[in-house]
Amino acid sequence: MRIVSGIQPTGNLHLGNYLGAIRNWVAMQDALDDDSRAQVAEGGSAEKNEALFFLADLHAISMPHDPATLRAGTLEMAAALVACGIDPDRSILFNQAQVPQHAELQWLLNGTARMGWLNRMTQWKDKAGKNREGQSVALFTYPVLQAADVLIYQATHVPVGEDQKQHLELARDIAQKFNNDFCAEDAAVFTLPEPIIPAEAARIMSLRDGSAKMSKSDPSDMSRINLVDEDDLIVQKIKKAKTDPEPLPYNPAELETRPEARNLVGIYAALSGQSAEAVLSDFGGQGFGAFKPALADLLVAHLGPIRTRFTQLMQDREALDAILARGAAKARERGGPTLDATYRALGLVRG
Ligand code: TYM
Repeated sequence: MRIVSGIQPTGNLHLGNYLGAIRNWVAMQDALDDDSRAQVAEGGSAEKNEALFFLADLHAISMPHDPATLRAGTLEMAAALVACGIDPDRSILFNQAQVPQHAELQWLLNGTARMGWLNRMTQWKDKAGKNREGQSVALFTYPVLQAADVLIYQATHVPVGEDQKQHLELARDIAQKFNNDFCAEDAAVFTLPEPIIPAEAARIMSLRDGSAKMSKSDPSDMSRINLVDEDDLIVQKIKKAKTDPEPLPYNPAELETRPEARNLVGIYAALSGQSAEAVLSDFGGQGFGAFKPALADLLVAHLGPIRTRFTQLMQDREALDAILARGAAKARERGGPTLDATYRALGLVRG
C-alpha cells in the first residue's frame, strides 16, 4: 500500500478537514505500521508500505494569495498535522514546493489531460463562477497537478473528503489514458489510485448554512470550527449554529430534510465513533438546548489536546522546517523512478 494525500496550507485546519480526511490519514498511517511489522515478522519487506502526506502549497497559488501568509501557513499546517497525529518518523511529511517532480510530472501529464475533462470539474465551475476568463490558468489545470501528486508515488489509496472524489476520478482517467497511449500492456507506468472516503463525516457542512460545505474560504469564522479555537469559542460557535425549532427525531431518515440538524448529528456521530442511529437513540425527542451543550463538550474534549500540541509545536519553527526538509528529501527519492519512466514512455531524450 502506498497512501498519499494532501491539504492546502491556506487558512486554519478545520473540523471538516479533520473529520473528512486527516483523522483517516492518521488511522491509515497507524494501520500501515501494524501491517508493515507483520510483513517484516514474516520475513518480507516493508518498503512498499508507506504513507506520504503533503502541504499543497503549489495548489495554493492558483488563487490570489499573499506570499508571507502562505509561508506562515505552510509551517502552521505542518504543525497542525503533527498535532493531529501524523508522525514524521513513520510517515513522509513535506510540502510540494520542495519536491519539483510534482510540477514536472504535471507538465508531462498536460499532454494527456483533456480540456473537456477539466471543464467538467465542479471545483473549477464553483471557484470560477461567471468569471472564467479572469481566472488563473493554474486554477483550471489544478486537477492535473493533483493527479501528478498521487501518480508520482504510485499511490494505491488516497484518503480524502467527498469533495475531492471527482479530482481523484480524473487522476484515474489521466493514468489510464497515459498507460493506454504510451505503455505496452504489461508495462503500465501509473497505478490507478483508489479514493478512501469516510462513511460518516465525508462532507461536514457550514454551521451557518447546512447546504454549503465547511470551508476555509467561507468569510464567516462562525461557519467553521478551527482546530485551534479556544474552548469558549467552540461553545459559542455551537450555541450559535443554525438549527430548526423541531426536537431531534428518533430515526436518521427524518434528518434528510433538515440539513443543519443532520450536520450536527453527523459531527457528534463522527466524534463519538457512533452511528447516527445510536446518537438519535440517546437524543431523539430532545431539543437543541440539550443536544448542543453535549456536542460542544465532545468537541472541546477532542480538540483541546490537539490545540495544546499545536501550540507547543509552533514554538520551534526550526524543528518544523527540519521535518519538512527531511520529508521532502525522502519524497524526491520516491518520485524519481516514476518521473524517469514517464519521460521514457513519452520518447523524451534526457542525455
Ligand atoms: P483541501 O485543502 O480543501 O482539504 C483537505 C482535505 O479535507 C477534506 N475536506 C473536507 N472533508 C469533509 N467535509 C468538509 N467540509 C471538508 N473540507 C475539506 C478534503 O476533501 C481534503 O481531503 N485539492 C485538495 C488538496 C490536494 C490533494 C492532492 C488531496 C492537492 N493534491 C492529492 C489528495 C490528493 C484540497 O484542496 O483539499
